[in-house]
Amino acid sequence: MMNKKIKKALNNQVNAELYASYLYLSMCAWFEAKSLTGFASWMRVQVQEEMFHAIKIFDYINDRNGEVVLEALAKPDSGWDSPMAVIESALKHEQKVTAMINDLVNCALEERDHAANQFLQWYVAEQVEEEASFGAVYDRLKLVGDDSAGLFAIDLEMAKRVFVPPAP
Ligand code: FEO
Repeated sequence: MMNKKIKKALNNQVNAELYASYLYLSMCAWFEAKSLTGFASWMRVQVQEEMFHAIKIFDYINDRNGEVVLEALAKPDSGWDSPMAVIESALKHEQKVTAMINDLVNCALEERDHAANQFLQWYVAEQVEEEASFGAVYDRLKLVGDDSAGLFAIDLEMAKRVFVPPAP
């Protein structure tokens, strides 16, 4: 039987990953509206990544004979004023998710739930990649500043990203 506290915390994380997916879809829409199609495509891939993160926890809860309870998703932000503001907001969101994962690991350790702890280690490593990925885009945008040619060069580069399901 699944530890009650862990089950509640993991259900909460399913919602958080789905919300991240929703937030990045909102960012995708923002980039589409600005005709920055490379950024939009990159965000679309990120939406899929977040869905993958959510479903992975969904499957784990079911594997442990827990019950998945889906909650409402909050309305995502949408009113950014520049590509830099969008990416900065995404990076901050990833840092928040990392803190949530760390809290989950702490909870698993406190509850002596070794299976949950082992499962969550995948997310610990994944968050290092997530922050690095958004951080790299943020750094590039900072480098080009107000240079439109630089922004379009980054946009072309961003278009190359494709969704590859993360390694299990
Ligand atoms: Fe699911 Fe981007 O963290």
